[in-house]
Amino acid sequence: MKVKPFEKRVLLSSATMHGDEQKYVKEAFDTNWVTTVGENINQLENGIRDLLGMQGTVAMASGTSAGHFAVKLADVKQDDIVFAQSLTFDATVNPVTYEKGKLIFIDSERDSWNMDPKALEKAFEKYPECKTVITVNLYGVPSKLDEIKTICDKHNAVLIEDAAESLGASINGKMTGTFGKYNIVSFNGNKIITTSGGGMLVTDNLEDAKRARKWATQARDNAPWYQHSELGYNYRMSNIVAGIGRGQLLHLQEHIDKKKHIYQRYKEGLKGLPVKMNPYLENSEPIFWLSCLIIDKDAMCKHNRTDYEYSYVHETGKTCPDEIRDKLEEINVETRPIWKPMHLQPLYKDNDFIKLDEDVAADIFDRGICLPSDIKMTDEEQDIVIEVIRSCFE
Ligand SMILES: Cc1ncc(COP(=O)(O)O)c(C=O)c1O
Repeated sequence: MKVKPFEKRVLLSSATMHGDEQKYVKEAFDTNWVTTVGENINQLENGIRDLLGMQGTVAMASGTSAGHFAVKLADVKQDDIVFAQSLTFDATVNPVTYEKGKLIFIDSERDSWNMDPKALEKAFEKYPECKTVITVNLYGVPSKLDEIKTICDKHNAVLIEDAAESLGASINGKMTGTFGKYNIVSFNGNKIITTSGGGMLVTDNLEDAKRARKWATQARDNAPWYQHSELGYNYRMSNIVAGIGRGQLLHLQEHIDKKKHIYQRYKEGLKGLPVKMNPYLENSEPIFWLSCLIIDKDAMCKHNRTDYEYSYVHETGKTCPDEIRDKLEEINVETRPIWKPMHLQPLYKDNDFIKLDEDVAADIFDRGICLPSDIKMTDEEQDIVIEVIRSCFE
């Protein structure tokens, strides 16, 4: 199949500005609040607080820095065991390593691709001393949060919910980013709404939010001079970028609707192929931040991946994620492999990994692919992407 490459690259997921963002950024300039204090920060924090119904919202320089404070607030110290979902971006788990904690990775289930509650229970049998669990809502799809929370409560463990990719999603009518004692959101440039770079720590505990706010601005004590009794960080969000987020928040639902539209169109367009879209739980409302597919096992062609390279041999009626990625790249379309699980990363190869029977996370990485999900992608562009995917199976 010969398709002309797109002149303008079709992206995986990029920022979409509306104009309100510039208004608030200008307001910061005009009022000289060009610092880590100001109305944009207040309004963004209030907006997320109202959206999630959580008392404490702390605007931070990134989702990763918010995750770092979540881990610090959970009191993770050297050699403390922390259970974390393996199938994720390394930013989810690295803060544990910053604090010299010991990560034990937990496998995913097939229903949402997130942490498997049964594997979590098994992990507690092996490491009953674990006091912190980090779960993720991958690609905007809620994990089995109620079950995971119940297991954490049973074992007196603190739950940290990484909702970096799922702002606006819910399960059983409850928003993601509200199940953990500490929760994180990301406003990275590719997220559902952005501040260019930024994030938020979300907690219902106002005292903890206050501590995080203090740490984020170098942990100054209340004294006339620079007095420090705790270790500080420069992790606060700037009032300039908060203006972008304040404007974006007005368009969150519109972004979610467009992501949903993209997911539904893939689902429809790929019908009849030996593939499935990334799954979600019946009682959940995902935001479909990224639409992904997984190829049926018996429709996978011969393929191989080392740590740095890949190869495959095309077979009629079969394909693999790397072939689809190559074919879409040829027409100037961006895709991405599924997150490579943490237990397969050289950085974490010696850490324990708890699974039931098969390694589900590794299998999703092997057979899955993230499709272009940019909300500026037109239906016509998406139709061509779908056609090219179809052609990979010829
Ligand atoms: C699952 C997950 N956790 C954490 C992060 C970190 O967020 P940030 O890039 O804002 O530091 C990201 C995204 O970048 C993410 O996708």
